[in-house]
Amino acid sequence: MNKIAQIFETLDYGPAPESADVALGWLDAHGKKFGHFINGAWTKPGKTFASDNPATSKKLADVTDGTAKDVDAAVKAARAAFPAWSALSGYERGKYLYAIARLVQKHSRLFAVLETMDNGKPIRESRDIDIPLVARHFYHHAGWAQHLDRSFPGMVPYGVCGQIIPWNFPLLMLAWKIAPALAAGNTVVLKPAEFTSLTALLFAEICEKAKLPKGVVNIVTGQGDTGAAIVNHPDVDKVAFTGSTEVGKIIRAATAGTGKGLSLELGGKSPYIVFDDADIDSAIEGLVDAIWFNQGQVCCAGSRLLVQESIEARFIDKLKKRMATLRVGDPLDKAVDIGALVAPVQVERIRDLMKKGAAEGGQVYEPDYDIPGGGCFMKPTLITGVSPAHTLVTEEIFGPVLVAMSFRTPEEAVALANNTKYGLAATIWSENINLALDIAPKLKAGVVWINGTNNFDAAVGFGGYKESGFGREGGKEGMAVYLKPSWEKSLKAAATSAAPAKAGAVAKNPLDDAPGIDQTAKMYIGGKQARPDSGYSRPVHAPDGTLVGEVGDGNRKDIRNAVEAARAALGWSTTAAHSRAQILYFLAENLEYRADEFAARIKVQTGESINAARKEVGDSVERLFAFAGWADKYDGAVHNPPQRMIASAMVEPIGAMAILAPPSRPLLGSIALLAPALAMGNTVVLVPSERSPLSVTDLYQVIETSDVPSGVVNVVTGETRALAKTLAEHDGIDAIWAAANAEVSAMVEKASVGNLKQTWTSRGLYYDLADKEKFEGSYFLQRATQVKNVWIPYGA
Ligand code: NAI
Ligand code: MG
Repeated sequence: MNKIAQIFETLDYGPAPESADVALGWLDAHGKKFGHFINGAWTKPGKTFASDNPATSKKLADVTDGTAKDVDAAVKAARAAFPAWSALSGYERGKYLYAIARLVQKHSRLFAVLETMDNGKPIRESRDIDIPLVARHFYHHAGWAQHLDRSFPGMVPYGVCGQIIPWNFPLLMLAWKIAPALAAGNTVVLKPAEFTSLTALLFAEICEKAKLPKGVVNIVTGQGDTGAAIVNHPDVDKVAFTGSTEVGKIIRAATAGTGKGLSLELGGKSPYIVFDDADIDSAIEGLVDAIWFNQGQVCCAGSRLLVQESIEARFIDKLKKRMATLRVGDPLDKAVDIGALVAPVQVERIRDLMKKGAAEGGQVYEPDYDIPGGGCFMKPTLITGVSPAHTLVTEEIFGPVLVAMSFRTPEEAVALANNTKYGLAATIWSENINLALDIAPKLKAGVVWINGTNNFDAAVGFGGYKESGFGREGGKEGMAVYLKPSWEKSLKAAATSAAPAKAGAVAKNPLDDAPGIDQTAKMYIGGKQARPDSGYSRPVHAPDGTLVGEVGDGNRKDIRNAVEAARAALGWSTTAAHSRAQILYFLAENLEYRADEFAARIKVQTGESINAARKEVGDSVERLFAFAGWADKYDGAVHNPPQRMIASAMVEPIGAMAILAPPSRPLLGSIALLAPALAMGNTVVLVPSERSPLSVTDLYQVIETSDVPSGVVNVVTGETRALAKTLAEHDGIDAIWAAANAEVSAMVEKASVGNLKQTWTSRGLYYDLADKEKFEGSYFLQRATQVKNVWIPYGA
């Protein structure tokens, strides 16, 4: 070997340390002790806890452990600031956001160094990724503030937003929360994570410098209890949370029935799929970014490698070689790839999980080099030889640990990829664009990267499917979660659904009313009429107490069958939108043919005039037409982020939905909810109004003659509350809408926590579903869909 080649081979990195002086100076200037930032001023530090540097285990500063009283003061300040802030023109609000973006850029190095010291992430990342994205978010949302009225007509801010963020991207998560909230006209109370409060406190100073009106942004530091105090504060209108799925579920349950807005960005176990025709070297570099970015403490980390069997050995071999060159060390060293994990408890948690995993088998590979002691350092780790049920394959490790499995066919890759309770992100590597774009829609994840990974941008929504949460951050979808229709505030209580029949009517011997032949309306499951499992039926009475019919008394088993049928029919979601439209038009047409019959049935159940009943049928036909029309129009967008990629924002159905129809308007009440759900490709288990179910049990005869595939609509009659509970608890249901009283609504929201299904409930308020202005457009379409952003290489 010649000398130059020799030097090249043996050349080592020298230290390239970033100075900590300015950040330490900033901490000194604050006496290394901080209060909260409330109403534009700093509170005196109260009881404090330490914020440490996990690379050195040394304390950086003390921050105040926020009490319920502190939270209350912050919420009061945010409430007081709300009227003036939301009344500012979008242009004025946008200028503040722009000023914040400029100031973040101006102080970017201080932010980056402080972030690295407090969190342990490599300076390379905080300097080149976190902080630039923070500035980008504020710039981007300055524009949304100004364009709000045109882009979101009729929408208003929630009011006071309580925002709780994790420690893995402390300032970036703050930006993802605060920028859209302020752009929409909300005021905020934000709690940073206990391990990483410092850049949020520096950000508070930026708000001061930007002369943001006092009370618009309030920062309260603290731990889980402080977060809970924010969530449970009665004057918080909307809660936005990023963190563990465990805490996300606690928050879902805590906000149930309160009417608070809620968006959750939770955990993940994202697949990283490499096909045998991939550019292997690029896929290896991508994988390094996917799982060792930020020490693997990334909710969307590509933590499950799925590699095609034919290249598995070669790929794993190359990967191990690459792992051996990753440099673990001082995060302030500019040539370090992997810094420190956030805190000793996190290292402990990962080690415990690894121990548990070791007991279940598998091979562990770690590169053979020393890592620094005295801080929270871990080697990059690879685990092979594991089965899909292995703890390390199913659990979010949230550390520098990759698990690898192989697959043979694309179908198997999809099945393995989706075999998780999470659905945050997924990565596909293949040089075959047909293959990649065939796989992308099959993955149940909110973000899909093709031949790239961990790409983020303010213009592109980010968020999960399934137990990874709901709501989006970034892009238009991200703005939407901070806005609500202006008419929501003037909703009145719905008339309480009094007992449907006169007292005594139900107590009659049911056999007395039984007609000679069985006229009990059947349920409708999987395209077939079905008798109730219970073998019981329920009487349906007119308002004057006359018995007008009977329906099956559905139970848990009927629901189970209906959910199974709805899931089996999910091919509906990939039926062309044009075909779905045609079927809805056909349904409308067939309903119109039988308008007289349906009107008579409405009249007999409700006691209203035949003209009113006819109008209800006409409105129902019109509503079906409306959503047939929407089926191929409510669709996605293509974003142009700064990367050489496009992000295709695909509007996808949520899946199998449960719909509990309102007590009023036996036909239109069901159609108004059913039509948007079907138009967007969801399958449905529909529970008609308990009082007047016969219009829906008649409807399935129309459904049968309208080419609606079996299982797309299933009807279970019975007692609303019991059926609602079973449906809300059922893991096979992906979303539930309940037009129900306050008690049932709260129960539905609480019971939905198991698989974190998306909910819409009327909470005992009267939603006049006949109102075309409100309900013939995006209101339910948005709730029937979720956006998947597919990042695709593109550009010159
Ligand atoms: P965490 O979910 O407990 O903490 C996130 C935030 O929620 C923090 O600000 C915390 O103070 C707050 N919080 C905790 N309990 C709360 C409650 N009952 N009500 C309101 N707010 C509450 O996450 P933690 O304990 O820091 O990390 C544990 C594990 O969670 C990690 O190992 C990782 O697996 C996962 N995690 C996932 C994240 C993601 O983005 N997917 C982010 C952080 C953690
Ligand atoms: Mg810290």
